[in-house]
Amino acid sequence: MALRVGVIGGGGIAGAHLPHLVKRSDAVELTGIADINADAAKATAEKYGIARHVTDFRELLPDADAVLVCVPTWLHADIAVEALRAGKHVFCEKPMARTQESADAMCEAAAQSGTTLQLGFVRRFDDEWLAWRDAVQQQKIGRPVVWRDVAAGAGPQAAWYNRDEQGGGPFLDGCIHNLDFALHTFGPAVWAFTHARTMRPGNTALDTGTATVHFQSGDELLLAWTWGLPQGCGGARVFEFLGPEGTLTWPKDDPYHAYESSERHFVINRGGNEEKENVAFPGNSLGAAFERQMDEFIEAAQGRITPRAGGHEGRESLRLALAILQSGRSGQVEHL
Ligand SMILES: NC(=O)c1ccc[n+]([C@@H]2O[C@H](COP(=O)([O-])OP(=O)(O)OC[C@H]3O[C@@H](n4cnc5c(N)ncnc54)[C@H](O)[C@@H]3O)[C@@H](O)[C@H]2O)c1
Repeated sequence: MALRVGVIGGGGIAGAHLPHLVKRSDAVELTGIADINADAAKATAEKYGIARHVTDFRELLPDADAVLVCVPTWLHADIAVEALRAGKHVFCEKPMARTQESADAMCEAAAQSGTTLQLGFVRRFDDEWLAWRDAVQQQKIGRPVVWRDVAAGAGPQAAWYNRDEQGGGPFLDGCIHNLDFALHTFGPAVWAFTHARTMRPGNTALDTGTATVHFQSGDELLLAWTWGLPQGCGGARVFEFLGPEGTLTWPKDDPYHAYESSERHFVINRGGNEEKENVAFPGNSLGAAFERQMDEFIEAAQGRITPRAGGHEGRESLRLALAILQSGRSGQVEHL
């Protein structure tokens, strides 16, 4: 029998999941879309051929086995808890919630209902990130490593992303992918230290800064991010790994986010006279990752597997993100 799925929130990220759910009509029946914005609900329903659209997500619950929670971050918890308590399997977008208490409530509701709670850590399915993780874990550049990620732009267009109590800014709503994946690759974090500010007028979150996270393994993650530039401005992207025996770097002309190009690669350079090694991965690895993530949810909701990123992983990455933000406010090192 097909898994009956309702989608809650018909904005940007729902558009990443719906095409694949439509393709998976062998296993999924899309029962409806809920969006408090009636026009958005109608437009999304029409675009994907979904018969039902509503403005109150509760109306979807009786006819659904599972729901996707694709609303803005600070709204995840209340909706997910209600759906879990109603016995529904829940796929919830990242970050899990805006506060630790909300994340705890989601874990508790999932434990009590015995249903699946899967978190949207799509990078765990991404061949690019899995390939560099393998290279690091296979000691290709020695350990411990420093992962440096520098990103500069205006951030997503929706204003809530840069509101402190809603999206929490880049260190929560953007970097959470890095934090989850670093915990997955390096193991537990020991401390975080952040220097940050709010740069763009109108933002209330810390939209600009540098955070360092130190892991028990000795590995380090350096995040120098801004979502505080005016629309239309951007800075250089740095994404690289430095180790005692070499580096993993991406070519300067790498078409980052190039879903069309058939292949991309990063380079293992061990210095001296050693040949550099190219590690290839599909150009559309992120697009494929979104599809695999939904396939995993379909399987998990039918009780066949346990999702690789569930409530525990959501809560741990959130704990680290909140420590980064707290350090940015206090100017002190935050121990985890
Ligand atoms: N995995 C990823 O790579 C990725 C990428 C982008 C966004 N996200 C996450 O997805 C979530 C949504 O982001 P987005 O960019 O799609 O946001 P968005 O603002 O584009 O869309 C959110 C939609 O939810 C609707 N909504 C708000 N409150 C609602 C409610 N109570 N009931 C039903 N609908 C409601 C809004 O009207 C809007 O249409 C965020 O948590 C974000 O961090 C994840």
